[in-house]
Amino acid sequence: MRTIAFYSPKGGVGKTASAVNIAYLASAGGYSTLLWDLDPQGAASFYLSGGTPHKGKKISKLLEGRAPIKDFIQEGIYPNLDFIPAHKSFRNLDIRLEEDERNLPLKAMLSPLTEDTSLVVLDCPPGQSRLTEQVLKVADVIYVPLVPTWLSLNSWQQFNEFVREKKLGQKKLRPFFTLADRRKKIHRELLAQNAELFDKPSKAIIPCSSAVERMGEKGLPLELLSPRSQPAISYRQLWSEIQAELRI
Ligand SMILES: Nc1ncnc2c1ncn2[C@@H]1O[C@H](COP(=O)(O)OP(=O)(O)OP(=O)(O)O)[C@@H](O)[C@H]1O
Ligand SMILES: [Mg+2]
Repeated sequence: MRTIAFYSPKGGVGKTASAVNIAYLASAGGYSTLLWDLDPQGAASFYLSGGTPHKGKKISKLLEGRAPIKDFIQEGIYPNLDFIPAHKSFRNLDIRLEEDERNLPLKAMLSPLTEDTSLVVLDCPPGQSRLTEQVLKVADVIYVPLVPTWLSLNSWQQFNEFVREKKLGQKKLRPFFTLADRRKKIHRELLAQNAELFDKPSKAIIPCSSAVERMGEKGLPLELLSPRSQPAISYRQLWSEIQAELRI
């Protein structure tokens, strides 16, 4: 079982859209995939629900090891795609992870899945917290969506430095550009510097596109909603890079 996370300290940068599209592509490619929506806002549900969001369950029993993770999984959202929807109790996940040593860490919660699941995709909430540290520990690779602006790059550099200082696995971080709008000069300039800005630049650049916005309205991943659109092509490229990275 391999685990990837979509994470950024910044909000609204395309973590959830990316997690859902990549999880869908993995499942369509035949990998038994689990998408876990760790964000109490529950946005992933809207991209997968066809209009009716999935209902999540209170996290405390899972944290305390009183219920197995399988009880939280909604199986077969699509063929090969299982889903753990968010629940408002996920708001307390950070505090719970910090407060009580009896609570299971994320790694232990996922461990029963190793036999049946090929890929776990974690959709993380924004912000930097105890949960972030656990995600960094448990994920094999962390994909960090970045909007091509200086502020966004500045935030990336700060986060990168934090991960390096705390020895949380800087080498596992993979930034990639999202919401790229080539009509904007600053976006064009930063996209042109992709190779110089990062150690392992991603060739997949996800453009700003109304096709992605419609995912929430229709409750469908891009591959079903608009497979010929530019962002769908870019997400397929990102998925190829992820497969190469994980050697799967
Ligand atoms: N490539 C894109 N083109 C256009 N709109 C996009 C794109 N990616 C995401 N969006 C839109 O931007 C908003 C935020 O996207 P998303 O929910 O994926 O970001 P997020 O980083 O998960 O946000 P949050 O931090 O709130 O969890 C949504 O309305 C989504 O439809
Ligand atoms: Mg999100």
